[in-house]
Parts: sequence; C-alpha cells; structure tokens
Amino acid sequence: MQEKRKKMTARRIMKMKGREKIAMVTAYTYHQARLADEAGIDAILVGDSLGMVIYGYPTTLQVTLQDMIRHTQAVANAKPRALIVTDMPIGTYEPSTRDAVISAIQLARAGAEAVKLEGGTEYTDRVKAIVQAGIPVMGHIGLTPQRHLRIGGYKQQGKTPQQERQLIQDALALQEAGAFAIVIEYTNPDVAKKITGKLEIPTICIGAGPHCDGQVLVLHDLLGITPNPPPFTKQYANLQETIKSAIKQYINDIKRIL
Ligand code: KIV
Repeated sequence: MQEKRKKMTARRIMKMKGREKIAMVTAYTYHQARLADEAGIDAILVGDSLGMVIYGYPTTLQVTLQDMIRHTQAVANAKPRALIVTDMPIGTYEPSTRDAVISAIQLARAGAEAVKLEGGTEYTDRVKAIVQAGIPVMGHIGLTPQRHLRIGGYKQQGKTPQQERQLIQDALALQEAGAFAIVIEYTNPDVAKKITGKLEIPTICIGAGPHCDGQVLVLHDLLGITPNPPPFTKQYANLQETIKSAIKQYINDIKRIL
C-alpha cells in the first residue's frame, strides 16, 4: 500500500533546509492546485501574479484582498497536502501593523496556511505582528514586483555591493522577525548563495540561481501557457500549442458534423 504523505506545514518546510530542496509553484484555481498537489509539490503559492496570469492586468497593483481571498478558497477546496501560501496584495499590509494582521487573518480564514509579503527591514514589524497572531509568514526580497514603479521596472537586483549589503540585511531582519522562509526573486546568483549560507531558514528562489534551498515558478510559465515568460523560466511543456490544437480539432469536428 502507498504510504500517505504527511500534510506540509510551515514548520516542515523550514525543516527541509539542508535535507531536501523545496519545490513550490503557483496555483490559483481548484484544478491547478489539485494537479500540482497530485504531482507531489511541497508548497502552493496563491500568488498575486494572478493579476496578470488570470485577469490579464498589466501588473500586480490591480489585485485586491478580495481577489486573493476568492482564489485562496478555490485552492483550499482542493485540500492539498502541500502548504498553501497566499500573497498579501499591495495596500493590505503597508499602512500599519494592524492592517497587516487583519488582512492576514482574512486570508487565513479563506484557507491560507501562511502568507507572503514583499519587502525587508521596512516591514519586519508587520511580519512580527502577523506571526504573533499565529499565521506563518514567508518573506520576499530582491525583485519585488509590487514596488516596480519605485525600482524602475523589473530589473535584476543585488548588482552593486550596496544592494547586496541591503539584501543580506533584509534577509537577516526577516528571519529575526519570525519569517519561516524567504523568496528571493531575480537577483545576482552570488547574492542568493550568500544569503542562503547565512540563514537558518530556507530560501526559495525565482530567477536567482541554483544555490537556494528551493525554487518557485509561475505555473503558467513552466507549462508554456504564458506567451512571454521571464528569461529565467524553464519551460516544461508547451500547453499553448496543445490547447490551441485541441480546440482546433474540436472546431473541425463541429464544422464537419453540422
Ligand atoms: O505572485 C507570485 O507569483 C510570486 C512569485 C513570482 C514568487 O510572488
């Protein structure tokens, strides 16, 4: 008989550091979560990338807490073994620690088993308060898409010694505040390697090289559904073509019969 694998928790993800790499992927709907979970993924991210991927918005700035609650409910309905981590969208944690805790609780009520927020030292008080309220927090540093206007686009981070020092400081501060893991997005791989070596909690990379404790990708990028995925994404399928070809066959069948 097949052994039933234990439910993933933030603590279990934390303990994977140094033992096993963490595989994480985004999912925004019931069937996406079901398929990712059946494939054996460790953690599912209900990412605010759903703004672009699901709704066709230009950025993540248009995503609301209500959007994240709805999609978290859909993912939670799949009852995955994988840990469900939900992004806190812009505007839900910056104004105050009180706002951050209230938003995180609403996401947890919808089924999030952890939340992720973007930023370093400037938001460690939010991280501390949410953890204190009983909800695990994943940090997110490097390229932080919610701040693309300030950064000046979607550029690689950690290129200068000053940026590198800031990233290391951010990572250590997030760990100190109680984060159980940190996403490092699109940085120089050497910086991600240094941070990974300095932290006791795992780092999960996206476009930041192979030296992290795990990796996260946007599901639609790795499946080949997104027309212009980021340059660092490895594509594991070409579903764009598969889906179009299936629909074309369907159209042909209809046209022949009717
Ligand atoms: O929203 C998202 O999908 C993310 C990943 C890119 C890490 O935050």
